[in-house]
Amino acid sequence: MRLLLLLVASWAVLGVTLADSSYNYFRLPTALRPQKYNLRVLTHFEDPDHLNFAGTVKILVEVLENTRNITLHAKNLTIDQSLIELRDTSSDNKENCISSTEVNPIHDFYVMHTCNELLAGDIYELTMPFAAELNRQLEGYYRSSYNAPATNKTHWLSITQFEPASARLAFPCFDEPNFKAPFVVTLGYHKRFTGLSNMPVKEITPNEKIADYIWCEFEESVPMSTYLVAYSVNDFTHKPSTLPNSTLFRTWARPNAIDQCDYAAEVGPKVLQYYEQLFGIKFPLPKMDQIAIPDFSAGAMENWGLVTYREIALLYSSTHSSLADKQRVASIIAHELAHQWFGNLVTMKWWTDLWLNEGFATYVASLGVENINPEWRSMEQESLGNLLTIFRKDALESSHPISRPIEVVSEISESFDQISYQKGSTVLRMMHMFMGEEAFRSGIQNYLQKYSYANAEQDNLWESLTEAAHKHRALPKTYDIKRIMDSWTLQTGYPIINITRDYSSGIAKLTQERYLLNTQVARNHRLGCWWVPLSYTTQAEQDFRNTTPKAWMECDAVSGEVLPKTISGLPGKDQWIIFNTQLSTLYKVNYDERNWKLLIETLTNGDFERIHVINRAQLIDDALYLAWTGEQNYEIAMQLVDYLRREREYLPWKSAFENLKRMKNIIRQTPNYEFFKRYLQKLIEPIYQHLNGLNDTFSGIEQQDQVLLKTMVGNWACQYQVDDCVPVAQAYYRSWRNEVEPDKKNPVPINLRQTVYCTSIRHGSDEDWQFLWTRYKNSNVAAEKRTILSSLGCSREVWLLQRYLALAFNPQEGIRKQDSMWAFQAVAFNEIGFHLAREYFIANVDAIYKFYHPITKDMSRLLTPLSEQTFLQSDFEDFKNFVNTNRASLKGLEQAIQQSLETMLTNVQWKERNYRQVTRSVEALLDK
Ligand code: BES
Ligand code: ZN
Repeated sequence: MRLLLLLVASWAVLGVTLADSSYNYFRLPTALRPQKYNLRVLTHFEDPDHLNFAGTVKILVEVLENTRNITLHAKNLTIDQSLIELRDTSSDNKENCISSTEVNPIHDFYVMHTCNELLAGDIYELTMPFAAELNRQLEGYYRSSYNAPATNKTHWLSITQFEPASARLAFPCFDEPNFKAPFVVTLGYHKRFTGLSNMPVKEITPNEKIADYIWCEFEESVPMSTYLVAYSVNDFTHKPSTLPNSTLFRTWARPNAIDQCDYAAEVGPKVLQYYEQLFGIKFPLPKMDQIAIPDFSAGAMENWGLVTYREIALLYSSTHSSLADKQRVASIIAHELAHQWFGNLVTMKWWTDLWLNEGFATYVASLGVENINPEWRSMEQESLGNLLTIFRKDALESSHPISRPIEVVSEISESFDQISYQKGSTVLRMMHMFMGEEAFRSGIQNYLQKYSYANAEQDNLWESLTEAAHKHRALPKTYDIKRIMDSWTLQTGYPIINITRDYSSGIAKLTQERYLLNTQVARNHRLGCWWVPLSYTTQAEQDFRNTTPKAWMECDAVSGEVLPKTISGLPGKDQWIIFNTQLSTLYKVNYDERNWKLLIETLTNGDFERIHVINRAQLIDDALYLAWTGEQNYEIAMQLVDYLRREREYLPWKSAFENLKRMKNIIRQTPNYEFFKRYLQKLIEPIYQHLNGLNDTFSGIEQQDQVLLKTMVGNWACQYQVDDCVPVAQAYYRSWRNEVEPDKKNPVPINLRQTVYCTSIRHGSDEDWQFLWTRYKNSNVAAEKRTILSSLGCSREVWLLQRYLALAFNPQEGIRKQDSMWAFQAVAFNEIGFHLAREYFIANVDAIYKFYHPITKDMSRLLTPLSEQTFLQSDFEDFKNFVNTNRASLKGLEQAIQQSLETMLTNVQWKERNYRQVTRSVEALLDK
């Protein structure tokens, strides 16, 4: 509201009175609220040059305050003002009319001034016609297509993508999440198609005006936000699910991909049933459809009762998809189905609290997947993955709080980021772990009950959780969840806790401050206080199971400052302690040197497996971060890393590789790379041997995460030419090339394909590249296509890389818009391709912007490889200048650019401060 008031004030000074038309606030006025929508949409596919739709929407509008205008959202729609109708249903359907209209293009408002005042308490029926092209921009009501191999013809389909603010592109509506209303959707189309929407079909009737056209009317929905409405006209086929006692469940895909739907059809209803029991609320709709859309911008979208997916996110092929691909499918389905409660049933009041949707769906999905496939141990993987991501992102000054003010659509879009998803999920996991199962579960059940079919903000969640926590005695009565959680959701960043032990008295002193990667930031900019549940264990105790806090770090209620904290009863000088069991909370820990040395001793010579596997990953991550920012030296960090020669579990390796990758990205461009390379070979060799190299041992692997470990280790081993990795990879590739029908038969083990392809392209010929590109074009499986796209960028031939970059952004060449990023990233993460990709981006930024417009999220992902490999002050300055002179073509990427620049800066600092030290400590380990 502040902006509007300011405007009003300054206009008043000038003596100008504000007309209605100057309404410039970013939210809709609150005088009206929609009660029900009746939506009819007629879709035409006859002429490929003019794919379009036309319709009418009837909205019952309740008047809360007298008003002379109706303001709602509409964008890029043709609306014939003369056909708009308005009747007062509370007063004998008395006709009102529209005297004039205007648009506000900044906020997408369509304003209708009424002939007579609308009266508070009355309900009006507003009828509006609209028409538009089925656009190509992957949002609103848009077109998609696929090629049918039997006929080699293009088949068209239509689909919606409305979140966050694109329902307004498809029909006039009150397009804000708090305006919930039931929808009756009716679709018109040629009878050879199928119509789908949120609800089941109610009735199909012939269209009297157009031959062979029908009207398909769907049942009335429950009250829902506009961004969840969905409909599609297509010629897909479907696979019904068969789980007993479950909601009617169907999985849709283009006919030629229907055999890839079995897995999704099996997972979907299982997860849905689990949630019904977890939340204690039945899925409220009579059916659920999930559909794979060939052209799709996000990964998937949780439309109520009609969830849409990219093909790669829904389809699974046992002969082409890796275990990681399969787990991703399960996880995405679990995420979207979690939204059916968190997001659809209970919706955030405003986008400020987007994390209530996305953080919850992310967290609940990991519970869901863990429940249906416990042998994957995916809960641990997801949790650590989220933590590793957030430790990095949130250590940037340019990060932002989980809960953030939102005023324009581009800010909403930018909020779909790792802070809402991964940090949101991480703080929920923290609560789950400090409150315990019962209190947490009952808290969220009550919250969902209480706000069903309505909207909530985070304070509402805190209330429900506090109540449950106190009831179950899961939290001291003097604590409340809001006070604790505000420190995590309203504050940017996370703390580092410094632990100084007094070994003779058994007391440790704890301090905290914000952890930042940029080491030039002064102390007084690192202030902040987080409420931290403290769990720890000692070398004698080694109890890593218990995550209930033994103490808390608190903040002063008035000043907000950190309250001093000591912990007593700790062991003597020959025993280590570890804080933050299972990494339940988002903080880094620094110990004194003695404690680190004790830990290193156990890791390298002792019973290291008794330290929880997540805490082993934590120690690696913490030690390498602290060395990066200079709080510890690299000698200690690398000594710790060296224990990995004994490590056989996935998580510690994952943690190490994530960190080593960042160092590699810089060091491999410098003269001392030799030492780093030799050291990595030495580090990786034992695990490579242990996993039997690239030999196809997969069918014998019992513990599923060992498959992922083998995939990851294989990838690094070939990059570093460990043992026989490269020749074995090449042999696999050769045998594939020798197949008579390579599109039907592929002898390369599925979980090694990425590595085998990349290695063979890297060390291969032009023909090897061409062979793989042909496989790409012939492939019918999205997962395989992505693997190939990521491998084609591994070439060292400059001309091939240039050609590939050009291919990636030319829609005629067969790479869909949503997938171009994979090609670009593959080139840009290649040490030779990096410079080419960077030049390409700089030279073509205008074209790339147009290519992606208006969805800039994918464009922002092109920046990641560029920033992670930049480490020279001059390159950093160049990029800054480039950004400054190209603002217009980088609109909507502001947040990503800030983060990229800061990442470059921290790389520059790292190179100046640590390069020599790292070389020295690695050399020392080589001699050992
Ligand atoms: N609600 C989102 C879809 C979305 C994302 C809409 C961005 C508008 C902008 C959906 O639930 C989602 O989170 N999709 C993820 C995949 C998910 C499994 C993490 C996505 O699209 O990346
Ligand atoms: Zn989501």
